[in-house]
Amino acid sequence: MQVLHTVEELRAWSRRLRCKGEGLIGLVPTMGALHEGHASLIRAAAQQCAGRVAVSIFVNPTQFGPNEDFSRYPRTFDADREIAARAGATVIFAPNVEEMYPAGAGTFVDVEGLSERLDGKSRPGHFRGVATVVAKLLIAAEPDLAFFGQKDAAQVAVLQKLVADLRLGTRLVVCPIVRKPDGLAMSSRNVYLSAEERRQALVLSRAIRQVERLVSGGERQSSALIEAARGVLAEEPMVRVDYVELVDWATLLPVTTAGPGTLLALAAWVGSTRLIDNAIIG
Ligand code: PAF
Repeated sequence: MQVLHTVEELRAWSRRLRCKGEGLIGLVPTMGALHEGHASLIRAAAQQCAGRVAVSIFVNPTQFGPNEDFSRYPRTFDADREIAARAGATVIFAPNVEEMYPAGAGTFVDVEGLSERLDGKSRPGHFRGVATVVAKLLIAAEPDLAFFGQKDAAQVAVLQKLVADLRLGTRLVVCPIVRKPDGLAMSSRNVYLSAEERRQALVLSRAIRQVERLVSGGERQSSALIEAARGVLAEEPMVRVDYVELVDWATLLPVTTAGPGTLLALAAWVGSTRLIDNAIIG
């Protein structure tokens, strides 16, 4: 599979396909360390955009805070290439930092409001970095469809607003969370977990299931649902809650009553690893 390294190569690839005529062009933005969750995005892209799927692999420095894991984020390019090819990618776009942020670059994309909610509150500047790099990718590749996982639900909300506000011609396709059989949501950061931390991390999906059970039983009050989720999370001593919120998925603003389309989002530290998980209620 061809590996492109420059924005110009990606743009030329996309334009060549566009000139050839019919058929959608798909982009799957990733930071590499691909797992089954990413593979499901690439497969979805390959289904809708057969032979026209670019997978970007770029560990984006601007979305990491100064004390976060940018330098130790897993980089597994050879394995990623295999996974992407097997899942149906056509090309990989793997730029270096200078390519995405040329010397002196001072232009950033800030999705105001949304970027300060949920993960944006705990990780100041994170969504500014995400919005900036995704805007660069969408402008370069001009895909019809771009594929993201529901696992990063707040990121999806930010990017939907980005695409709408900038009137970009790309539609975002949101694919379901992929879980291990025991319930752990797939994440590139799961490799940081010790065996005991991994066991305790299962409490995140348990907390979600508990809220879903309560909602099925008729409970709708956010305060009661959040308290129940926090109660479950408190069962594991290595787990420290960052946030548990019930929000409108489009605005990420808290709701007092959970209804169809409400997002239950949670983030917690398991040891020194921060994990997120979520579910759409009802
Ligand atoms: O979800 C991710 O892996 C990243 O935030 C993204 C969208 C590839 C931007 O760097």
